[in-house]
Amino acid sequence: MKILVTGANGLLGQHLVKLLLEKGFTVIATGKGEERMHPEGWGDQYEYHSLDITDATDIATVFTRVQPDVVVHAAAMTQVDECELNSEKCERVNVAATSQVLVDAEMYSSHFIYVSTDFVFDGEQGNYVEEDELKPVSYYGFTKMQAEAITETSTIPWAIVRTCLVYGNTLEGTRSNIITWVKSSLEQGKAIKVVSDQWRTPTYVEDLAKGILLIIEKKATGIYHISGKDLLTPYDIAMQTADLFHLDKSLMEKVDASTFNQPGRRPPKTGFVIEKARKELGFEPLSFGEGLRRMFAMG
Ligand SMILES: NC(=O)c1ccc[n+]([C@@H]2O[C@H](COP(=O)([O-])OP(=O)(O)OC[C@H]3O[C@@H](n4cnc5c(N)ncnc54)[C@H](OP(=O)(O)O)[C@@H]3O)[C@@H](O)[C@H]2O)c1
Repeated sequence: MKILVTGANGLLGQHLVKLLLEKGFTVIATGKGEERMHPEGWGDQYEYHSLDITDATDIATVFTRVQPDVVVHAAAMTQVDECELNSEKCERVNVAATSQVLVDAEMYSSHFIYVSTDFVFDGEQGNYVEEDELKPVSYYGFTKMQAEAITETSTIPWAIVRTCLVYGNTLEGTRSNIITWVKSSLEQGKAIKVVSDQWRTPTYVEDLAKGILLIIEKKATGIYHISGKDLLTPYDIAMQTADLFHLDKSLMEKVDASTFNQPGRRPPKTGFVIEKARKELGFEPLSFGEGLRRMFAMG
């Protein structure tokens, strides 16, 4: 089975490509520009194509050559503030390009899997199920909602995977996220302000890749919430990180999200109910503590 992954240089893309190869699939990784994965020893089941998804000709060329059985569309403009400030580019990458990738997937009747976000919800309620009303509060969330709607109109088998606050390291090394920021700040003895009025179910990147693998293996269609199982605030995440590395928690100050003046609004309380994925896919994520230790190869 041939699986094409867009956004393969990204955090999810890298782990997904690795997992799919370990499971014996043929993987066509695509990303903007040069490959960033260093795939030594990945064998001839793996190939990489530079593919900018805003270029329709590029997409058609790659799809004609590959004719994929499955497409995992993970590429997106993911920075919430940048999307707010550059809405035209955000629309082009997240909506128009998704539409184009889908058109090409339809030519080969591929199983199309679109990766979406908890930011399609307004965050007033929290613990969202798949059927809850979509009401994004940021332009990023709005474009992801639009791309979901385009996916849902397709005539080929489609699945939408919504996920939430993905953490982990990229394969080429560490990448900055809330965990690495807390760890390095406290290690340097720096005082930090951490938000305590936003809630998420943080998702270990390998769990997200496993959830997508299950969808591929079961040829599942429809919407799935794939995330971790613990509802936590950034402050909770920071406390667990400090505990794991025996760092000085007194350097952390609890603050409201309104302390930071960010261009893109964040939904206050998201987090997912993952019962559908558990029941239908057999998905079971790590706890946040387990994911944290895994991220630092501590068990
Ligand atoms: N990370 C999270 O917390 C989170 C939460 C909810 C949902 N998601 C969704 O999960 C998916 C994967 O996200 P991620 O965490 O892996 O984010 P990421 O690391 O930012 O990966 C996104 C990838 O898309 C690529 N991309 C951007 N514009 C492109 C274009 N025009 N053509 C081709 N590729 C392009 C980026 O390339 P460059 O690296 O070259 O810029 C990047 O490698 C996204 O759809 C995102 O919306 C993520």
